Amino acid sequence: MKLTTKLLSASAIVAASSVSAVELEVTHWWTSGGEAAAVSEFAKAFDATEHTWVDGAIAGSGGTARPIIISRILGGDPMGATQLNHGRQAEELIEAGLLLDLTDVAEAEGWKDIVNPSSLLDSCTVDGRIYCAPVNIHSWQWIWLSHQAYADAGTDVPTNWDEFVASAPALEAAGKIPLAMGQQPWQSSGAFGVMAVAIAGVDAWSQVTVDKNPDAVMGPEYTKVFEAAANARAFAANSNVQDWNQATNLVITGQAGAQIMGDWAQGEFQVAGQVAGEDYTCLPGLGVNEVISTGGDAFYFPVQDDPEVEAAQKELAALLLSPEVQVAFNLAKGSLPIRGDIDLMAANDCMKKGLEILAAGNILPDGNQTLSPDTSAQLEDLMVEFWNDPSITAADAQQRYADIIASAD
Ligand code: GAL
Repeated sequence: MKLTTKLLSASAIVAASSVSAVELEVTHWWTSGGEAAAVSEFAKAFDATEHTWVDGAIAGSGGTARPIIISRILGGDPMGATQLNHGRQAEELIEAGLLLDLTDVAEAEGWKDIVNPSSLLDSCTVDGRIYCAPVNIHSWQWIWLSHQAYADAGTDVPTNWDEFVASAPALEAAGKIPLAMGQQPWQSSGAFGVMAVAIAGVDAWSQVTVDKNPDAVMGPEYTKVFEAAANARAFAANSNVQDWNQATNLVITGQAGAQIMGDWAQGEFQVAGQVAGEDYTCLPGLGVNEVISTGGDAFYFPVQDDPEVEAAQKELAALLLSPEVQVAFNLAKGSLPIRGDIDLMAANDCMKKGLEILAAGNILPDGNQTLSPDTSAQLEDLMVEFWNDPSITAADAQQRYADIIASAD
């Protein structure tokens, strides 16, 4: 079937004119079960054209993959296309003229009219030119709770952060890990950001993360966040896993009560055959503050200086935003589509909640959109230290966080 489609479209195009089949290497860090299922939707759609998707998955999540991707592009070994989080990660590559300008594709496809929220396209835009194709909205602002773990502990599934904190001793008594947390630096840093939005509130969070005001870090709202993080550190003390999806698996299997993680975790529950509301509960904004951050993933296309490759790159860019591909990909990924004009009837309860929050306009930018990669890396380093060393007090971490924010760009 696939081959037939390919042959048909290839011959149609050869007959029509000059486009030829290209093998396009696409790099990304989607290697967990749910992520692999999602990216295969892109590959399938691209393989149904005359071109071929050459999968360049890089194991170990964004923290490992991004430096490899960026150094390949800088070092003159560019791939055909690559995932990055849109926002500030590609700034230097764009300034160096290494990424393909997609403005003509964006105009032909009407991206300005369909991409919602428009901040996703703004994050692809530098000096009025568009350099990336946004493919989803991923939000960090979620906690995932295992019904099995709470049933085993004989207590109700929490409906907010305070109830979660109160339930931790019962979980521990039942031999559970209250909070699953992997060791990759971005995980503890991301979880801290979620606690900040929920506990300090959106205003204080914006003063810190958008305005970069160190005084706000030292203020009373953030003091509560650092104290909550010290609590969370104790709840996660026995969570000896590395990758984020291994931590999700602790929740799926009922070994842990909860995980604070972005909504890509949904892909893992789905692959495991779990049902939102039955096997697990998701609480946006830790059940305290229903808001979602609207970062996500985007594809960038390194300049190749080959018109045939460039044509295939642009074809892929357009395809990634097409309605059918958006539905298939996002349902598998657990993310929300970047276009508001498509039907997500099949969305599960958690995605529906996300869509409602998006429609109500309760959205925040993502840290990748507001902080430079250098600042994000410094915050990640601090959080890894804090999370692994209980002798670092909440007050120590608060001071060091403020120092980093004071010099953030
Ligand atoms: C994020 C990315 C998501 C997700 C996650 C874990 O950076 O935006 O798509 O899969 O990493 O790998």
